[in-house]
Amino acid sequence: MSYVVDITRYPSPGALHHIIAAVSAGLTQPERDRDLPGIFERELQRLLAVRAVRLREIPVRYRPRLVTPTRTAESVVLGVPTTDSRTQAVLEASCGPDRSLDHADHELLAAAAHLGGLVLELARTRGQRRISTDGAAPLIGSSSVMQELRERVERVALTGFTALIEGESGTGKELVARQLHELSGRSGGPFVAVNCAAVVETLLEAELFGIEQGTATGVKGRRGKFENADLGTLFLDEVSDLSLSAQAKLLRAIQDVAIERVGGNNLRRLDTRIVVATNRPLAGLVAQGLFRADLFYRLSGVEVHVPPLRERRDDIPELANYFLSRHRQTREMRISAPAMEALRAYEWPGNVRELERLLESAVALAESDSIELDDLPPRVRGEFAEIVGRSLDHGHSMRAWASRYARLVYERCGHNKRRACRRLDISYHTLQAYLRYGGPALPGQSVRQLPAWVTSASQPDAIAAEAIDEADA
Ligand SMILES: Nc1ncnc2c1ncn2[C@@H]1O[C@H](COP(=O)(O)OP(=O)(O)OP(=O)(O)O)[C@@H](O)[C@H]1O
Ligand SMILES: [Mg+2]
Repeated sequence: MSYVVDITRYPSPGALHHIIAAVSAGLTQPERDRDLPGIFERELQRLLAVRAVRLREIPVRYRPRLVTPTRTAESVVLGVPTTDSRTQAVLEASCGPDRSLDHADHELLAAAAHLGGLVLELARTRGQRRISTDGAAPLIGSSSVMQELRERVERVALTGFTALIEGESGTGKELVARQLHELSGRSGGPFVAVNCAAVVETLLEAELFGIEQGTATGVKGRRGKFENADLGTLFLDEVSDLSLSAQAKLLRAIQDVAIERVGGNNLRRLDTRIVVATNRPLAGLVAQGLFRADLFYRLSGVEVHVPPLRERRDDIPELANYFLSRHRQTREMRISAPAMEALRAYEWPGNVRELERLLESAVALAESDSIELDDLPPRVRGEFAEIVGRSLDHGHSMRAWASRYARLVYERCGHNKRRACRRLDISYHTLQAYLRYGGPALPGQSVRQLPAWVTSASQPDAIAAEAIDEADA
């Protein structure tokens, strides 16, 4: 970087020292909690006693949104130096009616803008390191399901046994495998991932076990993934896609704790922990004769099941905010309450990966900095927008919603109030109140036509359940 921060020009360099001290203290925090731009903003805001300070990067495609650099008594927008010519960064500060920015404030902000360039650079290199190499990304989610998963991962990690991770596509199996490695005694060794479905079958053996020099004309000898993972963890993803012959070789490698390179005749002893993952339950494949039973028994026993996202809907807001925060440098965005409820209501067949991709596209395409119901693809906002969106438009109250739901459950319970109360987890008195309350029907729609997530009495939707709780209280 070619710029120099001349802090002597500012009449009170002590102010900059405060920011530098706060940012360097931030460097000692655990990586997942380290938000250097956030620390910088908060410290500068505190020093200036202004309403808001924002330090952000704006890639080229959002440039039209940029406010032209300005300096007024109420606000200031300054350019921040960046190392990437395609990216523009700005420091913005604004104050309320009771305060105006004077010359000294502008001087401090100008110096802070240079420092902001360094802060963004630090945050960026940290992000790159996280994506490309060691240090598994955090497993986000505080629901009880996720807490149980985390505890299981910690226990399994310590054993060092072969582990089998099962779960639908996109649930986070690879993330779990990385955590198993990071939390184990092998974290200093390599983590080597192989997607068994992506390797051409004829090359798989050489890929996994390596090949001896001169096995065929012109063939150079090389190590396989097993050897690369020596003293570390070998993660075999989509293991159900291995052919039966590859399964036999894998079984042998696991049993012997040794491998033989293709074209070689000596066994190499290895210390590699094997973690495998599959999105098709192996037991079912064994029953169909598609997966070797002996290998299955060798792999199973220490299993980790990663639940689908629809079984841990409480994690959706946390995950969504986490993914948005990862794009904070590109664009700072938030999700409106109705859009968040739609995310919670959706079934997520593609699980966390689908949520991650959806938010990426919202960051790129949404018109305002708030993701609204209309910014979500029709498949996601679908039922929610149709039902709740209309209620929103008509200003229906929570009581109307809760009452409609209570009446549905009451009907489903064969008009048995005692059973309905148990299902709804409300008192007899509250149920009576709901049944008396003749809330409005949805325009042009009978309650009987509501979609499954609203009408299913066995799985009351979180929104309706919350409404009832509130009314009950
Ligand atoms: N709990 C979580 N917290 C944060 N990110 C997550 C979480 N679960 C999944 N992800 C992210 O979702 C994406 C998909 O996760 P991953 O690749 O681990 O899924 P998978 O189960 O291996 O999928 P597949 O079966 O398709 O291989 C990744 O980008 C991952 O970082
Ligand atoms: Mg995977």
